[in-house]
Parts: sequence; structure tokens; C-alpha cells
Amino acid sequence: MRVLVTGGAGFIGSHLCDRLLADGHDVVAMDNLITGSTDNIAHLAGNRRFLFVEHNVTNYIYVAGDVDAVMHLASPASPVDFSRIPIQILKVGSLGTHNALGLALAKGARFLLASTSEVYGDPLVHPQPESYWGNVNPIGVRGVYDEAKRFAEAITMAYHRIHGVDTRIIRIFNTYGPRMRLDDGRVVPNFIGQALRREPITVYGDGSQTRSFCFVSDLVDGCCSRTSASRSTWATRSRQAFSPLRRPSTG
Ligand SMILES: NC(=O)c1ccc[n+]([C@@H]2O[C@H](COP(=O)([O-])OP(=O)(O)OC[C@H]3O[C@@H](n4cnc5c(N)ncnc54)[C@H](O)[C@@H]3O)[C@@H](O)[C@H]2O)c1
Repeated sequence: MRVLVTGGAGFIGSHLCDRLLADGHDVVAMDNLITGSTDNIAHLAGNRRFLFVEHNVTNYIYVAGDVDAVMHLASPASPVDFSRIPIQILKVGSLGTHNALGLALAKGARFLLASTSEVYGDPLVHPQPESYWGNVNPIGVRGVYDEAKRFAEAITMAYHRIHGVDTRIIRIFNTYGPRMRLDDGRVVPNFIGQALRREPITVYGDGSQTRSFCFVSDLVDGCCSRTSASRSTWATRSRQAFSPLRRPSTG
């Protein structure tokens, strides 16, 4: 297969590129490097089955030749970015997803959307079953990410229903692993950063929170199995386990 990975220079996207190449696929990674880095894909330079295109997917996406699958991961995901680059987040979730779906439609490609547990907002139900529709504040600081992803899910389903695009949606919960930014703002890199700096480890709240964590290789397995599965499934979540960790909600 020839696969377009948007956000391919990011934390998860770069691991996905590694895995797709290892599985024998050709990969086009597209990224504008707003939160990603070419450091994440530097080891792929010279691989003839790998192409990196620096491009902002909120603008029209052009890829020459066949594309069999579009795996749409482009989006800042870190809570520290929600107040820093809110408009870029809204644009990539809406315009970027529209453009990525347009390419999938034009190429007859499968489409995978990397959505998030944040579509549940500040959930009133724990753990969240897919029948739960969430509790989102559209005008709050986090709303830019939550609503962008909710729009992305909605337009993905519209392209499926109206244009027959073969779409899949995964709702990713906290994923961690190598290449995460230390200043990402989420609990695992926070703990690691504080430990490396020999600082006290900060635990927020009253200790009753729970979080679901997923190691990046397991998440990449899920992305690949969802994309290669013969039949579309409405949504799959990367829920692995619940651990008592004391941290405000992160997606
Ligand atoms: N890491 C997690 O725990 C988590 C949880 C839920 C959802 N997700 C989703 O997974 C995907 C990847 O997240 P990540 O943790 O690897 O984040 P990341 O910031 O490391 O990767 C996102 C990549 O998308 C790129 N990007 C952003 N806007 C773009 C645009 N307009 N055009 C082109 N490229 C653009 C960034 O430069 C970056 O390389 C995102 O869609 C995110 O919402 C991640």
C-alpha cells in the first residue's frame, strides 16, 4: 500500500511511519512542523519508500500518484498548545480534515481519523462507553481541541455517508513513549521531566482521578489494524487500563 500520514513528523505519526515502512508499505509523511520535528523522522532520510512533504494540511492537499490509505493525525494534541495556538488547532481539525477527506475521496483511499478521548470533554460518566456523547464546554480554553475533533468526526461520517469513503475513527486516550516532547504538559513527560531535573514529582488533585494510558507501539498496532480491517467500524478507542493517577483531564 501507499499511505499518506498527515502529522507524520509528530510523536505518534513518526512511530506510525516506522511501522508502515517496516511492514513493507510506501509512506508519504506530510507535516507543517508546528509541533512536530524532522528529528523524529531523520532516521528515515534516504529510505526510498519514504517521502516527507512539508505542507500545512489546512491548505489544499496534492499528492501525485496512487494513495491507498490516508491516516490523518495532523493536529497539535498537547494541552499547553490549546491556549498558544487555538486557531491553528481549530483549522487543522476542520479544514485540514476536510482536505484530507477530499484527497481520500479523489484517490479512492481508506481514511483513518485520529480522534481523541477529549470528544467526551469533561465527562460525567467513567469510564466512557461509546454510547456516551460527552460534556463539552464549547467556549472554554480546551473547547478548541474538543470541538475541532468533534467536527472532524462529524465530517468524517458525512463523507462516509454521502460519498461512501471507507472511513475509520479511533479515539486515542493518553499515549506515551519515546519522542514525546518533555514540555508536552501531560502527566508522563511531566513526571519524567521532573525526575530528570531531580525535582519533586507533582501530583494534582485529591488522588481520586483515573486515567487510561497506552504505549505508543500498542496505539500504532491499533491504527494499523483499524486501517487494514476489511470492514469499517464506527469508533475504536485505545483504552488499555485504568490507573489511579492524579492529574487534571488530558486527551
Ligand atoms: N498523544 C496522545 O496522547 C493523543 C491523545 C489523543 C489524540 N491524539 C491525536 O493523535 C494525533 C497525533 O498526536 P501527537 O501526540 O503525535 O501530537 P504531535 O503534536 O506530536 O503530532 C501532531 C503532528 O501534526 C502536525 N500538524 C499540526 N497541524 C498541522 C497542519 N495544519 N498541517 C500539517 N501538519 C500539522 C504537527 O506538526 C505534528 O508533527 C493528533 O491528531 C492528536 O489529536 C493524541
